[in-house]
Parts: sequence; structure tokens; C-alpha cells
Amino acid sequence: MLVFKHIMVPVDGSEHANRAVEIASDLAKKDNTQFMLLHVLTRTGSYDVPKELRSYAEIEHIRITEKDLVELAGKEILSNAANRAREHGAIDTSSRLESGDPASRIAAIARENGVDLIVMGRRGLGDLGGLLFGSVSHKVAQAVECCCLTVK
Ligand SMILES: Nc1ncnc2c1ncn2[C@@H]1O[C@H](COP(=O)(O)OP(=O)(O)OP(=O)(O)O)[C@@H](O)[C@H]1O
Ligand SMILES: [Mg+2]
Repeated sequence: MLVFKHIMVPVDGSEHANRAVEIASDLAKKDNTQFMLLHVLTRTGSYDVPKELRSYAEIEHIRITEKDLVELAGKEILSNAANRAREHGAIDTSSRLESGDPASRIAAIARENGVDLIVMGRRGLGDLGGLLFGSVSHKVAQAVECCCLTVK
């Protein structure tokens, strides 16, 4: 029986990626399966930075840079995904926050870590209808040697 030993789920906070986390967690319900979540920070990513935090920073005169806020939003995406993964049975979970071009980073990290399955959404935050695949899922599937599962 083919068993995946190291599953990676790239997440962007979208509903599609949430479903990818759930499906991958189900596949990772084994002690010896590593489960890695990855979020790649991008300059163009649309991040939902909590309003309360902005106001808090203003009131307290704390200098929070745009970079801090973007990082915080990225960490939030990862921690939500990690909770979801555990709820759905993933055991050995880890999370990575990276920055750069999402598709290239996802493919490079998968390769470096001996990932044997990538589970990702077909579309992501930019889902405005039309195309079946987003640019990230499309490029990753083309760039990697390992198995890829794209979920609707
Ligand atoms: N910045 C990111 N970091 C990690 N994973 C990502 C990132 N962006 C997308 N993904 C993964 O790729 C999947 C497909 O997203 P993709 O960005 O390709 O679609 P889209 O947002 O609809 O299209 P586009 O970004 O081309 O407008 C997501 O469900 C998620 O699993
Ligand atoms: Mg996208």
C-alpha cells in the first residue's frame, strides 16, 4: 500500500486551502506521517489585518510597521490551519512562514524537505470565477516531481 510519509499543505487562508487542510489531515492520520503547513508572505497578498490591532497600536503609540502586520496575519493563517489540521486528525504537525514568490518557495521547500505529497486548493483568495486553477496551484503542480492533489 502506498503511504505518504511527508505531506505538505500550502495555505493562504482561503476556503479552498481550508478544505485542502481537512483532506490532508485525514490522509495524515498515522504516527509516522509528517504534516507541514506552509504560508508564503507576498507583497501583493490581501491580508485581513485585525482592525483592533491597528487601533490599539495607534492608541498606545506603538510603532507597528506594515511588515509586522503582514507577518502577524501570516502567523494567524498558519495557526488557524494548524488548529483545523489537529481537529481533523493530523498528529505530527509543523508550520513554516516564508516570503517570496509563493509557487517557487512552495516547490523549493517541498524538494528540500523530501515532501512526497502536496495537497492544495485549486483556487485560493483570488477566486473570481473563470479559471479552474489559480496561478500558484498551476505553477506548483508543474514545478514539482512529487504527487500533487488539488482540491475543489
Ligand atoms: N501565498 C501562499 N502561500 C501558501 N500557499 C498558497 C499561497 N497562495 C496560494 N496558495 C495555495 O495555492 C492554492 C491555490 O491558490 P492560487 O493563488 O493558485 O489561486 P487564486 O488565488 O484563486 O489565483 P491567483 O492567485 O492566481 O489570482 C491555495 O488554495 C493554497 O493552497
Ligand atoms: Mg492566490
